[in-house]
Amino acid sequence: MQKILVWDWPVRLGHWLMVGGFILAWLTSESETFRLVHVISGSVVVAVALFRIPWGFIGSRYARFVDFVRGPSSVIDYLHSLLKLQPAHQTGHNPAGGWAILLLLALGIATGLVGWATYNEIGGEWLEDLHEGLAVTMLTVVIVHVAGVISGSLLHGENLIRAMITGYKQGSLEDAIPSARPLAAILLLVWVAAAGWWLAS
Ligand code: HEM
Repeated sequence: MQKILVWDWPVRLGHWLMVGGFILAWLTSESETFRLVHVISGSVVVAVALFRIPWGFIGSRYARFVDFVRGPSSVIDYLHSLLKLQPAHQTGHNPAGGWAILLLLALGIATGLVGWATYNEIGGEWLEDLHEGLAVTMLTVVIVHVAGVISGSLLHGENLIRAMITGYKQGSLEDAIPSARPLAAILLLVWVAAAGWWLAS
């Protein structure tokens, strides 16, 4: 086992943009003064989540959905190993975390688009209630996600948060991704800026 590159640039940059957008959107959710900040930060979450879908098919090995979306038996086996406090080491996302990731992406898109419709006064108060309900559901999944990341880090003896920043995890040399795909991260930034500007205007 040695340090190998696992997370490409679009995965890492997209993740921390989503975290920033999500936190800022929550902090400004009740404020009239910061309404535009709220709309822009929510748009960042939507734009990153939309980018992540094609990246889940054409991205590097561990970014692909086929690598981390597994069937119920793999999820149950992984959860059992967690309960026994002996989770099997994962080079990419673990089988339980994979489903939380899909849920977070779906909720990010749904919450943001319903919020966008509310901002543009399409639909009535029910849409506003739906936006709030989706946001609270997303916060719940985020709390579970962060708890999973912290407990996974402790049980695996590997700092998963640092890995999401540097891209490096423990693994076999032959399992490393060959490139961090920096050009795709520039494309992500351009897309987020364009989609954010369009959704907020
Ligand atoms: C400060 C809070 C957060 C921390 C510390 C954190 C940390 C992490 C870490 C370490 C991973 C990789 C897990 C693994 O090794 O399998 C991850 C993945 C992920 N997290 Fe978070 N997370 C946070 C908040 C969020 C929020 C707020 C969202 C959504 C709005 C989110 C969405 C995701 C997604 C979509 C992935 C998968 C990344 C990808 O494959 O593209 N996270 N997170």
